[in-house]
Amino acid sequence: MELLELMKTRRSIRKYLPQRVEKEKLLKIQEAGLFAPNPGGRQGTKIIIVDDPELIDRIGVVNANCENRNWDIGVSSDQPSIIDDKSIKSGFYSAPALGIICVDRKRKHAVNNIGAAFVCAQNMVLEAFDMGVSSCIVGRAEATFSFPEMQAILDEWGLDPEYMPMVFVCLGYINGDYPKIKARNDGRALFISKED
Ligand SMILES: Cc1cc2nc3c(=O)[nH]c(=O)nc-3n(C[C@H](O)[C@H](O)[C@H](O)COP(=O)(O)O)c2cc1C
Repeated sequence: MELLELMKTRRSIRKYLPQRVEKEKLLKIQEAGLFAPNPGGRQGTKIIIVDDPELIDRIGVVNANCENRNWDIGVSSDQPSIIDDKSIKSGFYSAPALGIICVDRKRKHAVNNIGAAFVCAQNMVLEAFDMGVSSCIVGRAEATFSFPEMQAILDEWGLDPEYMPMVFVCLGYINGDYPKIKARNDGRALFISKED
């Protein structure tokens, strides 16, 4: 698909089939994240791919419980989020695979570090979509891993203790119809040009 068309048709998907994503595709999605622009050319992020649905659900329940779910606005009617549907237990929506983008703890609040994590996530969702894999970016990563039993999982994986999760990318095959493109709000685009 042409790149702009891909960007316009990608949606955040929260209904997944249990079908696992092929390892080759997961590795390509990880690689796409590794090639994201990065502040100062430091390549300062680490990207973990978890291909273990049970473990993802376990972490996802903690993730959902880190959110105040009483927002006064809805997120999506066709792909309900944990805000829209309080019966959803996992913040990762039973996705069978998960990307976790990690940043250096010492710089965790630096805007560029946060930005670095999210551009990796964006590269990953676009590469995933291009291969027919659906995705949803999910936050609350720092809160999710703030509990000792959650930190123990990172230790078990061998993540450098200097690093901490900043953002998640749920990955899997969509269950049901793909949602339509959402119209863009008016007034968001300015174009400044010097008259000839
Ligand atoms: C920084 C960021 C954080 C997000 N966090 C969550 C989240 O925690 N849970 C969730 O279900 N969706 C999350 N999303 C997905 C947004 O809800 C989604 O992109 C938005 O509703 C627009 O829908 P679309 O992606 O289908 O166009 C996040 C998106 C971004 C960019």
